[in-house]
Amino acid sequence: MALTQLLVALVAFAIGVHSAPPPAGWSLHRRADPDALIPLKFSLAQSNLDKLETFLLDIADPRSPNYGQHWSPARVKETFRPSQETIETVRGWLTQDAGIHADKIRLTPSGDILQLDVTIAEAESLLRAEYYVYSDDEDGSVRVGCHDGYTLPDHVSKHVDLVWPTVHFGGPRSISRRSESVPPSSRFGRESGASTIPIENLAALAESGCDTSVTLDCLRELYNFDFTPVSGDVNTIGVAEFGANVYRPSDLNLFFNSFRTDQVGHTPTLISVEGGDPTVSGSVGESSLDIELIMGLLGPGQNLSLYQVAQPKASLDPTDELLAALDGSYCSVSPVGNEGITDCGNKPATNVISISYHFNPDLNDPSISPVVQRQCAEIGKLTLTGITIIASSGDGGVAYSQSHECLLPSGVLSAGNPNGSFVGQLPASCPFITAVGSTSVSPGASTDQVEESTTDFPSGGGFSNNFPRPAWQDSAVQNYLDNFVPDYAASVFNRSGRAYPDVSANGWPLVIAEGGGFVHSGGTSASAPIFAAVIAAVNDARIAAGKSTVGFINPALYSDAFAGAFNDVQVGSNPGCQKQGFPAAPGWDPVSGLGTPNFAKLRDAFLALP
Ligand SMILES: *[C@@H]1O[C@H](CO)[C@@H](O)[C@H](O)[C@H]1NC(C)=O
Ligand SMILES: *[C@@H]1O[C@H](CO)[C@@H](O)[C@H](O)[C@H]1NC(C)=O
Ligand SMILES: *[C@@H]1O[C@H](CO)[C@@H](O)[C@H](O)[C@H]1NC(C)=O
Repeated sequence: MALTQLLVALVAFAIGVHSAPPPAGWSLHRRADPDALIPLKFSLAQSNLDKLETFLLDIADPRSPNYGQHWSPARVKETFRPSQETIETVRGWLTQDAGIHADKIRLTPSGDILQLDVTIAEAESLLRAEYYVYSDDEDGSVRVGCHDGYTLPDHVSKHVDLVWPTVHFGGPRSISRRSESVPPSSRFGRESGASTIPIENLAALAESGCDTSVTLDCLRELYNFDFTPVSGDVNTIGVAEFGANVYRPSDLNLFFNSFRTDQVGHTPTLISVEGGDPTVSGSVGESSLDIELIMGLLGPGQNLSLYQVAQPKASLDPTDELLAALDGSYCSVSPVGNEGITDCGNKPATNVISISYHFNPDLNDPSISPVVQRQCAEIGKLTLTGITIIASSGDGGVAYSQSHECLLPSGVLSAGNPNGSFVGQLPASCPFITAVGSTSVSPGASTDQVEESTTDFPSGGGFSNNFPRPAWQDSAVQNYLDNFVPDYAASVFNRSGRAYPDVSANGWPLVIAEGGGFVHSGGTSASAPIFAAVIAAVNDARIAAGKSTVGFINPALYSDAFAGAFNDVQVGSNPGCQKQGFPAAPGWDPVSGLGTPNFAKLRDAFLALP
């Protein structure tokens, strides 16, 4: 039977025409050798994933009697592990229908992946696919895959999330964007919409207002953030830095000497992922910003953990490395089939994790969607255990962050074409993330006045093409769509998608020490750690009151009980794709979200919950 299928498949391919070009950044090199052996991996569908949101609402909806009763990691693992039926269905297909000897098929210890070594010819027969060798346009490295797609029998496909190697070319590698500001070795990006500006005379800044220089004092006034930790011995917060984004203790000291003398000499506690080392040479902009803001706002009574995530192989998606380090059951699930990931569930998860990077465009595309959906589900599972994951919304407005690309009707990403539709970005558009946009103090305004959306760069926001709009933001988003959305054609953005950002915080022009001097810096890169510090302070108060951490906060933030906890930003917009983007408006909007935090009110609203 397998042979018949193979013949049919080969005939079909012989007369077939390639439907799609290879993914951007890769060239078809040659047809794969039919006798070459490849490890073929079937990522099995997780159980109960359709109930993830229900499980989360049960502990995160402020109206739920079980609010705050987070799950243990063991319960999460047990609940979502692929079912026996899933394992047996896929195994049965491979052995009975495809005639593969049972001895050749291995189930990984985590129970998530069936793996077997097959020849290219066998893989092509199994998957009705045509395998090629592709070469990376940048570094010439080669990879095997079948970008034209593959097919599984109907009764099998619902039990399989992904097959490796097929159409997915490995996280950010396949979709890295060429951009002048991104070094070729960088497969992902920090948010960097606005370039830093050196400050010549720090003393002179003392005279200026928070509209021209944002210091820690400005942030405290803007967000009603009067905070001294009382639970610092048990509370935790972490910041993730990827690749060669590193900090120098001398920069922290320079900053603390001027703005937070009780932190002089302190550095974050290192949690090294895949050997990540903050002392190597690298770029200091992102890490300095994140660490100085969090440590500066929280003070010495609360330690900051630094997840320094190395990227030992270009084929590894740093998102997967971080997720695998926090949850061992994700390790074998990693796209590119876990090659090289060694930190599997052996790193502690902090109560809050701040991420100022973007990894993937939010495109509904077979080479991207299964990967980002699996990553987002994993983020949801982590939040189920009481962790809050906060990410910057991007610095490209309604276009894809760093490269400002938009999606053409042909399916290609392109910058500077008026026909492009809006493109969101991961991880911000994942509904289990709290996405943070950027604001600035209006020219001449005081910190008593509500900020406006940043004009120095367009703050990222919009609607997902992968994740539907969750119920908890339904009425807020519908209000915007009904009353304030510009008259865009239906193809310009996905009205049914998860809308973001959820909240915002100052993103420009922050006073930061980096590279031995002071600069004006920012971006949504700054907004995320500021908001993360606010949530860490909320956890501090809840822990002191004998309550759990806040975990997945989005359902609470959008609920009526939190209506007064945000300063409603109503001025500004986030242009991109040669359009005005979305204007800010009363209530939630896809530029500033619900607004900037009022810490004291936010804390009290969370303290009022069980
Ligand atoms: C922070 O970390 C340092 C070094 O590990 C430790 O000595 C200190 O007690 C910690 N502070 C708190 C508040 O836990
Ligand atoms: C945009 O689309 C219009 C209508 O299809 C087409 O005529 C025009 O050439 C396109 N512009 C670009 C820059 O591709
Ligand atoms: C819009 O988003 C939904 C998920 O909410 C998705 O199913 C749909 O395919 C998306 N549409 C486009 C054009 O990407």
